[in-house]
Amino acid sequence: MKFVKNLWLTSTVILASLFAFSSVSFSGETLKYTGEKKCFMCHKTQHTVWIASKHAKAFETLGTDAAKKFSADPQKDAKCLKCHVTGYGAEGKIVEEHGVQCESCHGAGEKYAKDKIMKVQKDAIDAGMILPTEAKCKECHNANSPTFTAFNFAEAVKTIAHPNPEKK
Ligand code: HEC
Ligand code: HEC
Ligand code: HEC
Ligand code: HEC
Repeated sequence: MKFVKNLWLTSTVILASLFAFSSVSFSGETLKYTGEKKCFMCHKTQHTVWIASKHAKAFETLGTDAAKKFSADPQKDAKCLKCHVTGYGAEGKIVEEHGVQCESCHGAGEKYAKDKIMKVQKDAIDAGMILPTEAKCKECHNANSPTFTAFNFAEAVKTIAHPNPEKK
């Protein structure tokens, strides 16, 4: 506490470099995925919308005949899994059955999925939370998808909307 208090008394130059450093140290680190059940604890409304969406079925989709046109065993094929599950190739156990989960768009939750941090947007972002933009979607919605035709961000974002009912 004393350390933090002293920092506030130092010059803005030192403060600025402190913040720059802390964001580098977070982004340079490999954060673990918590899985959607963790998010469900505090975001039941968002979870209800997501679980009914195609994203939540993305792993199931790889088990269909349509998927087998592109791969002999899509549910085991890294070429498919990288876009159809969450955090493919990341450390730790990924709950594949639930496909494209919260953290595919909002970033791995290891550090930010805590009440105290989540309440302050800046703290959450520093801890790895992402407020996804079009670029995030296009990491998967692109021509490397064998079924890709086009991606209209404005329309797509409406389709997946899961606003917080308690806001405004
Ligand atoms: C312990 C409770 C808790 C957990 C667990 C939790 N959150 Fe949150 N989250 C909050 C609170 C509180 C807020 C701030 C109020 C709000 O926007 O709902 C918030 C806000 C958010 C926001 C909006 C941020 C903004 O500034 O607009 C996103 C996105 C989010 N959480 C995603 C997640 C994801 C993804 C997970 C799981 C990895 C998760 N949260 C886990 C409590 C939690
Ligand atoms: C990790 C990869 C990934 C990311 C990131 C991603 N998506 Fe998707 N998205 C998918 C996959 C895979 C499907 C197909 C799911 C299925 O049908 O099984 C899909 C399906 C969709 C669909 C349904 C399409 C339809 O046929 O109705 C919409 C809408 C959509 N995504 C919007 C978005 C938006 C908006 C974003 C960014 C905010 C986004 N997605 C980010 C992988 C991703
Ligand atoms: C670059 C990311 C990416 C890769 C790699 C990828 N997919 Fe997808 N997949 C998507 C997205 C995004 C969608 C939803 C929109 C679309 O079709 O582009 C989707 C949709 C699908 C659908 C549903 C199409 C429909 O019309 O409902 C099937 C089936 C599918 N993918 C199978 C596969 C298989 C099999 C592989 C591996 C050979 C694969 N995908 C690799 C991103 C990807
Ligand atoms: C396909 C990408 C995608 C997935 C999957 C996804 N989100 Fe989001 N989320 C978004 C986008 C885009 C926004 C809107 C950001 C904005 O308002 O600019 C958003 C907004 C939010 C917000 C803020 C809502 C508000 O009104 O302030 C919360 C909280 C949230 N998401 C939680 C979750 C949780 C929990 C899950 C999983 C159950 C989840 N999201 C899954 C893309 C996604």
